[in-house]
Amino acid sequence: MDKLIITGGTQLSGELRIAGAKNAALPILAATLLSEEAVSVGNIPHLHDITTTMQLLGQMGVRLTIDEKMNIRVDSNETNKFEAPYELVKTMRASILVLGPLLTRFGQAHVSLPGGCAIGTRPVDIHLDSLIKMGAEIKVDAGYIHAKASRLKGCRLVLDKVTVTGTENLLMTAVLAKGTTVIENAAKEPEVSDLAHFLNAMGAKISGIDSDVLVIEGVEKIGKKDLHYTIVPDRIETGTYLVAAAITRGQIKVKDTRPDTLDAVLDKLKEAGADITTGEDWINLDMHGKQPKAVNIRTAPYPAFPTDMQAQFTAMNSVADGVGTITETVFENRFMHVQEMQRMGANIQLESNTAICKGQQQLIGAPVMATDLRASASLVLAGLVAKGETLVDRIYHIDRGYDHIEEKLAQLGATIKRIAR
Ligand code: EPZ
Repeated sequence: MDKLIITGGTQLSGELRIAGAKNAALPILAATLLSEEAVSVGNIPHLHDITTTMQLLGQMGVRLTIDEKMNIRVDSNETNKFEAPYELVKTMRASILVLGPLLTRFGQAHVSLPGGCAIGTRPVDIHLDSLIKMGAEIKVDAGYIHAKASRLKGCRLVLDKVTVTGTENLLMTAVLAKGTTVIENAAKEPEVSDLAHFLNAMGAKISGIDSDVLVIEGVEKIGKKDLHYTIVPDRIETGTYLVAAAITRGQIKVKDTRPDTLDAVLDKLKEAGADITTGEDWINLDMHGKQPKAVNIRTAPYPAFPTDMQAQFTAMNSVADGVGTITETVFENRFMHVQEMQRMGANIQLESNTAICKGQQQLIGAPVMATDLRASASLVLAGLVAKGETLVDRIYHIDRGYDHIEEKLAQLGATIKRIAR
């Protein structure tokens, strides 16, 4: 398994281009199952989860071609298998996103239940209960969801919890359902809005985008000849590299990004002492060599502080001036990175769903193990400021969500290399 070796101590500085958002690309690729016309999608990030999604669609009979600029052309008219097998779903829970499109366009879907994962049980009960309300027949048997429906009917859905992929699954399903669907307590993440804009570009009738009430007028079919759609930039990749510069007291300019999708994160970086300027598609952060100040974080659904940035700020608080608290309200077990950071000398106490971080002047490099996507990235960030060498194992987690992280950090001056062992 590949590992990353980082030698800490360099102040990062330089410019970086941000890739398309993983969590927009996944639902948008699933949504191509709905289209009667081939469609081209651009600014797709070069990530393992994208490869998995292409395999998932390909084994259904969907035709995909990818060009050198990472534009993917998808034609789902030959789809002849309506299954998401366990072998693929176990490596990527977001495979659940094909459930709604398969059911609403082809009348059937057989999708392996995504197992739990390191950060929590992550049930899909809201997805399934809502589909049943729309008229689906759903049976769960031997680890698979078997769903069938003649024509789903639009209705009012009030979601018990704010769920990103739950909102996305139901949004895609409603597009071809008969009549009007209203989704209340919908997730408002920018990736949900990007999916809604993509669906409307293909001829769907969705209103209330960016709000927590989505109204969808069902149509017979969708598909627009020669449509090309460009994915929104990745706000979590953006935030991760901004923290990489902040934690090393350096400077960075991130380009091809969307500052307006990161208000809560930028506010906290300013509170930590970062000097931040922004343009329409760029953000410049400069610490002027100063140690970051400790900040208090409470994660919650968008537009509040994103849970996917929690681990990165835990790393930054570990070397900040003062005591900072990090409260995780979205997932029940998203502090696996804490014990790894403690092995690097971080002074963090866990009390229920809050991490109390007493900032240290320095961490000590150590061999650490990645457990989930964002926790792994936070261990790399900790390695950037630790004294000596940090070896991060199981970095396949990182490759799922970050495109060549070691090359991008090296471009900013970090001493980091990938070893295959
Ligand atoms: C999406 O996961 C993201 N993944 C996650 O990013 C992100 O952390 C999460 O949203 C929260 O923002 C993708 O978009 C592919 P949820 P998702 O459904 O949709 C509970 C990353 O790092 N819930 O919004 O699976 C659930 O247990 C990944 O890129 C139910 O109870 O998350 C959780 O406590 C990690 N029943 C809460 O809702 C359901 O049916 C929010 O989960 C669905 C969810």
